Amino acid sequence: QELQLNLEQIEKGGYPHFMLKEIYEQPSAILDTFRGRLLSNEAIIKMAGVEDNMKKFLAADRIIIVACGTSWHAGLVAEYIFEDLARIPVEVEYASEFRYRNPVITEKDIVIAISQSGETADTLAAIKLAKSKGAFVFGVCNVVGSSIARESNAGAYTHAGPEIGVASTKAFTTQITLLTLMALRLARAKGTMSSSEFRHHLIELETIPGKVEEALSSDAYVKTVAEIYKDSKNCLYLGRGFNFPVALEGALKLKEISYIHAEGYPAAEMKHGPIALIDEQMPIIVIATKKGHYEKVVSNIQEIKSRKGKIIGIVTKGDVSVKELADHVIEVPETIECLTPLLTTIPLQLLSYHIAVMLDKNVDQPRNLAKSVTVE
Ligand code: AGP
Repeated sequence: QELQLNLEQIEKGGYPHFMLKEIYEQPSAILDTFRGRLLSNEAIIKMAGVEDNMKKFLAADRIIIVACGTSWHAGLVAEYIFEDLARIPVEVEYASEFRYRNPVITEKDIVIAISQSGETADTLAAIKLAKSKGAFVFGVCNVVGSSIARESNAGAYTHAGPEIGVASTKAFTTQITLLTLMALRLARAKGTMSSSEFRHHLIELETIPGKVEEALSSDAYVKTVAEIYKDSKNCLYLGRGFNFPVALEGALKLKEISYIHAEGYPAAEMKHGPIALIDEQMPIIVIATKKGHYEKVVSNIQEIKSRKGKIIGIVTKGDVSVKELADHVIEVPETIECLTPLLTTIPLQLLSYHIAVMLDKNVDQPRNLAKSVTVE
């Protein structure tokens, strides 16, 4: 028993839970994912799976992304990035819905399947359906030789290392990293991005591991915020643009490890219903980084404040406006807009982790959940 405990402790690298270890591994996991692929001094991105199929990607009518859970959220971020940078139409589908709704698929479609485990039954079934209709399938997996990796026509692996915690963290940020590399490579090939803009994105992407490290330094403060809101019964997560999917992901993290009901919404959707939920108890986490529709998010925060909602703002370092309005602000370093999800997700991962620990939940193996849903 003693030996078993020690072995586990070694595996956790001294962290109390695999999830916290994996949250802290994100700087190196992101670096490992772009290492050898992002060559900023030559201003090139090298991804064999994309290079070998470049004609298909450039001739594609659209990209369909199929995934589940957190991987689906990474797909939503990818939709915003692919469309913004490479101008390729993208639609993101829950694999479980896609496989049964008799979707229109043609041989001019490219399907990107995102799966950490590479064993999710719905995602595997979705790509088999797509292949049967002649689509080209590109797999983004974290487990080498997994079923989805083998079933795909081509693909690329995230290099997050084994993710043991059921709640996905480093898989999410490495999926976004890899998909961003793909979008940049395709933008360059399609000429939708100037070489200077392309180079700027590469150089900024290289700074992300250090900026994730800096975002992690808010851990102690996030823990004090977790202490205040750990007994909440409901939480709302709001974000706009690239950070709307991060709001969804933040809500999923809280739900799955602390069992507190939480919902993510586009910030502007507040006034179409959710604003009725606001009372003086419910914490509302608003992602309000300095990029994108910042002024509009600030006015959303003002609407919440006038209804006495409790506001936790995720802001760009040095922010002043949100600081005056929110009850708490957690800072992340500045970066270019499309890369903000890699940073804004960090405090949300830490917040859900600390709340779950304070509620004495089984953080690494939450009730009813499996690490990979290999059955329907
Ligand atoms: C996320 O924290 C969950 N563990 C779950 O939603 C997971 O993302 C989903 O089951 C998809 O798993 P996959 O990436 O291995 O396909």
